[in-house]
Amino acid sequence: MSESDQSRQSPVHNGRLYIETVGCQMNMLDSELVVAALRQDGYQLTDNPKDADTILFNTCSVREHAEHKIYSALGRLKYSKRNRPQRVIGVLGCMAQKDQDLIFQKAPHVDIVVGTGQLAEIPRMIRETRSATERVQQKAVSLGRREGSRDEITDSFQSYDPLRDPEMRPTPFQAFVRIMIGCDKFCTYCVVPATRGPEQSRSPSQILAEVRVLADQGVREITLLGQTVNSYRFTENGRMHRLSDLLVQISDVPSIERIRFVTSFPRDMSDDLLQAVRDLPKAMKYLHVPAQSGCNEILKRMKRGYTVEEYREMMHRIRETMPECAVSSDFIVGFCGESEESFHKSMDLIREFRFKNSFIFKYSKREGTRADDLYEDDIPETVKRRRNNEMLDLQNQISEEDNAEFIGRTVSVLVEGPSKWAAKKNGPATDGHRPGEPLATQLMGRSECDRIVVFDGNPRLAGTTARIRIDDCTVTTLIGTVETLEHQHGSSGILPILV
Ligand code: SAH
Ligand code: SF4
Ligand code: F3S
Repeated sequence: MSESDQSRQSPVHNGRLYIETVGCQMNMLDSELVVAALRQDGYQLTDNPKDADTILFNTCSVREHAEHKIYSALGRLKYSKRNRPQRVIGVLGCMAQKDQDLIFQKAPHVDIVVGTGQLAEIPRMIRETRSATERVQQKAVSLGRREGSRDEITDSFQSYDPLRDPEMRPTPFQAFVRIMIGCDKFCTYCVVPATRGPEQSRSPSQILAEVRVLADQGVREITLLGQTVNSYRFTENGRMHRLSDLLVQISDVPSIERIRFVTSFPRDMSDDLLQAVRDLPKAMKYLHVPAQSGCNEILKRMKRGYTVEEYREMMHRIRETMPECAVSSDFIVGFCGESEESFHKSMDLIREFRFKNSFIFKYSKREGTRADDLYEDDIPETVKRRRNNEMLDLQNQISEEDNAEFIGRTVSVLVEGPSKWAAKKNGPATDGHRPGEPLATQLMGRSECDRIVVFDGNPRLAGTTARIRIDDCTVTTLIGTVETLEHQHGSSGILPILV
């Protein structure tokens, strides 16, 4: 882009912006939206922090390790701020809401601290920091969960859903859409109800309007986001809408091909939702429903609100409704009071339900949570690590065995693009290759059951849906060959391609 093009796009040049994002998909979406607002304000994105006039960290507090990473990154900026005092350093998101002034104490060179509920304030705050004659530190955070009435607290967490910046998305044809914010489950180990505030669903008309805009921009796959996404409820025009209703409405948007949603809460996995996922061809056959533990005593201490028997009943309903549906889970190992026997009950749960994959975490004590008040963090780090590794080994073995079942089958894949940019140097592309175009590259995408699939193909296939025959697998990946291309932008029907 030439200088004059740039100045036409953004009348004021506010310098270069670098943003680093950790945490969950909710944070990735927040960063996309913050960047969109700042670009509108004349900032240009850079991927080199050394070049940046504004450096933002969008943070996570779910485990201590995530916070450490950010505090060390902030530490590294201390001297550069001395040399470049005009540079604005900001801490956003969950750690900003949780630690507040502590961030200024630990990292005095930070200029702004902005909680998850105040992201709309960022452009103004940066502007004010820049124009102040004397250095000011600014903070915008929401109320704590005991600092007001429910309405006051809810109002202090504003859902942030303004403009989009397509460049920040994982790919141009995939987008996250927030359907709710906050969480009211208060699992005893978890900071999220404090950092994201009370549970609030967004209106279906707003969600649908956003999906339509994204579809017009070329998005084919929508991932609906919520901490407990299947708890979604919103009454509009006298009618109560559930997640299953949203899935039906979004399915009606013609150019959307795939809809996913994360993360589901076991107790809210209702039959209407399972039936909608089964009956709607665009709904991916994939559910992420964290179990956290396979031991009733631990589940009770975690205040998850279900027993192993209830989780089992839910799994049976899922399998009865959709035998092909992939289910993944999260587990915490080494939670307060987790005996060897409790741990083995979690291992048994994995053996019983053969999750597609599980995210396994060592319990990390979080200040301000109920678990921290009530229980001692009594499992030594070495034991946590061993349990983590044992569980990972078991899950990996199951994932690999189940992936091997796919060998010889054909799956439908939305092609996301080059896999780790591993361009293949030898051998010409055979799938629709045209002279002068890049040769075959290892591409990746996901199957309808959310399995990662890699295969050789022309990078032009990105954004299309292809049938891939599976030839091999690893623990995390199915490896295959392109059979046919199902849909291509601007064309319809089956488009056979040469293999
Ligand atoms: N809302 C989602 C997950 C939120 S956090 C849910 O309810 O499932 C993502 C995962 O981090 C959780 O599922 C849990 O397994 C893990 N986690 C949360 N707090 C933790 C803590 N204090 N220590 C270790 N893992 C934690
Ligand atoms: Fe945290 Fe539990 Fe809410 Fe998930 S459901 S965000 S684990 S409190
Ligand atoms: Fe982390 Fe906040 Fe997400 S604590 S996991 S970034 S909701």
